[in-house]
Amino acid sequence: MVEFKNVTYFYEGLSSSKVKALSNISFKVEQGDFVCVIGHTGSGKTTLLKILNGLFKPSGGRLYINGADVWADKNAFSKLRKYIGFVFQNPSYQLFEDTVLKDIAFGPKNLGLNNLEIERRVKNAVDVVGISEDLLTKSPFELSGGQKKRVAIAGVMAMSPKILLLDEPVAGLDPKSRVHILKVIKKYNKDFGVTVILITHSMEDVYMYANKVLVLNKGELFSYDSVDSTFKCVDRLKGIGLDIPDISKVFLKLKNKGFSVPINVYSVDMAVEAIKSILLKRRGNG
Ligand SMILES: Nc1ncnc2c1ncn2[C@@H]1O[C@H](COP(=O)(O)OP(=O)(O)OP(=O)(O)O)[C@@H](O)[C@H]1O
Ligand SMILES: [Mg+2]
Repeated sequence: MVEFKNVTYFYEGLSSSKVKALSNISFKVEQGDFVCVIGHTGSGKTTLLKILNGLFKPSGGRLYINGADVWADKNAFSKLRKYIGFVFQNPSYQLFEDTVLKDIAFGPKNLGLNNLEIERRVKNAVDVVGISEDLLTKSPFELSGGQKKRVAIAGVMAMSPKILLLDEPVAGLDPKSRVHILKVIKKYNKDFGVTVILITHSMEDVYMYANKVLVLNKGELFSYDSVDSTFKCVDRLKGIGLDIPDISKVFLKLKNKGFSVPINVYSVDMAVEAIKSILLKRRGNG
């Protein structure tokens, strides 16, 4: 559905110096994928999303949507912009109306929808994301960081994008809100087949929600694979300063020693459940 082919990106610095943010990146995302993008600070995650969104033009290489070259074909560019919804790392950049309600309605209005449909979409987005009614008449700038993120996500969801790009959407939220928002995004992905590409610093998020993981290291594509295959290479990940939870390592070791255990275990609770189900199966087998 979307494809990077040998994409390189330079930021123009002061006095004509250039900063290479991405180097020769190639990967493909299919319809319905849930891709988590991970990597250290400065590894190029946000830059990659801004290129995907059509906000930045690659300095080298190509971006394709459904096989068409976005920067060589005007139709492909407008298709990309129509398909994609983007939630910025800092939501303040995308909120600008004088009330929360108007802000969420801004996207659907721009799509030229009728008032009834706009109302329906806004109400639905407000409900699923969990924004309380009393906030709707407030200015987005009176809200807390977490509330702003919810409003930004609701505004993008109300546009019903085919591809949802989220730059650390739950960073800084309390644990309950984190889980709520991520579950909403996952449900959206599952129920409507919406493609999700989400930047996170949490390995647990990757385990819980992704089906593919894109790992960036200093502007280079370190790996792009399924969750299990990515985390099997713990030592390689460690080499670039990323790590998986200790409990996951225990299960990986057991698997490597020939025990029949799941390897997508990242918390003690999950480990308890996994062991329980193994014991039950054994009992069942006499
Ligand atoms: N506007 C800019 N001008 C010059 N260099 C930039 C600019 N924005 C980012 N960079 C540089 O490009 C590289 C990639 O930055 P990017 O913001 O994409 O990283 P990131 O992985 O999103 O980091 P973080 O986890 O901190 O959000 C970094 O070296 C960064 O310093
Ligand atoms: Mg970033």
